[in-house]
Amino acid sequence: MEKNQKKLNKSFYIENYGCQMNISDSEIVTSILLDNKFILSDNLENANIILLNSCSVREKAELSIKKRLEELKFLKKKKETIFGIIGCLSKQSRDFLLQEKKINFFVNPNSYKELPNFILYAISNKKYFPSKSFQTKETYTDINPFYGKKKITTFLSITRGCNNMCTFCIVPFTRGREKNTDPYYIIEECKRLYKNGYKEVTLLGQNVDSYLWKKIDFSYLLDFLAQEVPLMRIRFSTSNPHDMSDKVLKIISKHSNICKHIHLPVQSGSNKILKLMNRKYTREEYLSLIKKIRKIIPECSISHDIMTGFCNEDEEDHKYTIDLMNKIQYNYGYMFSYSPRPGTYAYRRLKDNVPQHVKKNRLSEIIELQKKHSFFRMKEYLGKVQEVLIEGESKKNDKHWYGRNTQNLVVVFPKKLSKIGDIVFVKIIENTSATLIGKIS
Ligand code: SAH
Ligand code: F3S
Repeated sequence: MEKNQKKLNKSFYIENYGCQMNISDSEIVTSILLDNKFILSDNLENANIILLNSCSVREKAELSIKKRLEELKFLKKKKETIFGIIGCLSKQSRDFLLQEKKINFFVNPNSYKELPNFILYAISNKKYFPSKSFQTKETYTDINPFYGKKKITTFLSITRGCNNMCTFCIVPFTRGREKNTDPYYIIEECKRLYKNGYKEVTLLGQNVDSYLWKKIDFSYLLDFLAQEVPLMRIRFSTSNPHDMSDKVLKIISKHSNICKHIHLPVQSGSNKILKLMNRKYTREEYLSLIKKIRKIIPECSISHDIMTGFCNEDEEDHKYTIDLMNKIQYNYGYMFSYSPRPGTYAYRRLKDNVPQHVKKNRLSEIIELQKKHSFFRMKEYLGKVQEVLIEGESKKNDKHWYGRNTQNLVVVFPKKLSKIGDIVFVKIIENTSATLIGKIS
């Protein structure tokens, strides 16, 4: 009985919000907790410890965490339920939630090894004060991430935090300064993944191109890794245009197992706005980088992040963004309207002076435009044969698989005799703006 009671107290469940980095971090957190005799629950209601891995990059993301805590209030009534928030949260929200007793603790992404202590103290109703405050160099290379249910693709962080200080961005405040992971760990971890049946790994970082470990830069790391796991597909994200080098482009083109896709957030097409954002490149430099990518890797797909309604953005600036999109015709992109984030330079020093409805209209306009470009880009694949890694069953039709080609575009096709994890050749016969539809050739 005593034993069961203890077991019950230590069952945990993690709910993920935000980016791929959070998904990857949850795998590290799970591993740390399992090593400390906590028990993974596959169901939120049965867990006594609920961790929300939060995101505060945009206001909406932060609001959804608060809403979720409200929804879960009924579980808190169960005396033993402990609520912890991990991940990225602005200081204001953190302080508010702690003060209002809506959560038991908050643990930042640099201090996950302290998590068992936070939980144990919370269970015994005490407050925990970490001995070493804010572990600034933590890269978790001594932890084997817990990848859970066997999958085919996964993420691996190679840099954590960011040094760039874009004026709108909260990441440097929530995740701290950039920390790079030991390359030998990255190689060994990828080999381990391959041995365990993984066919694709995405190397993660806020800015992977600034990776540096002694003399090993990102191009060297990619080159080495591609040779060490020659049958593994390698992707990476995100590339800050300011740091992307010719050397990296050449390495991508040299190895068939490095996927031909670059996520290259531009944020705005106006030099005035880029400067206010502290993005450290101009529109002209960005366009010439695109030209270079297309010359060195002609088959490469390119995606973007764009934000509308940043401080002082006027109609002319918005037109520059539209014009840049028309010039590039990206394969796809993620688009947002600006929301001021407490603590950032823009929040403190610039005026959030674009009215909400203008932000929204500009956002709708670029989303519509991107849809047109995506459709046009997808159409370019009609009649072509694509190498596709099968990842799972199509959501719309259980007789179809879905997978992605090297350009990171989703391909759907009838199963035939293939299985998950196979690489198959698919002839494209139809398309929408988001999906290629084909048949195994
Ligand atoms: N490291 C990436 C960005 C990470 S945040 C880079 O180099 O660009 C992901 C995206 O969220 C950003 O590219 C930006 O478009 C958006 N974003 C960040 N802060 C935002 C804010 N305050 N308001 C709206 N969108 C924001
Ligand atoms: Fe944010 Fe800019 Fe870094 S968008 S994550 S500060 S590159």
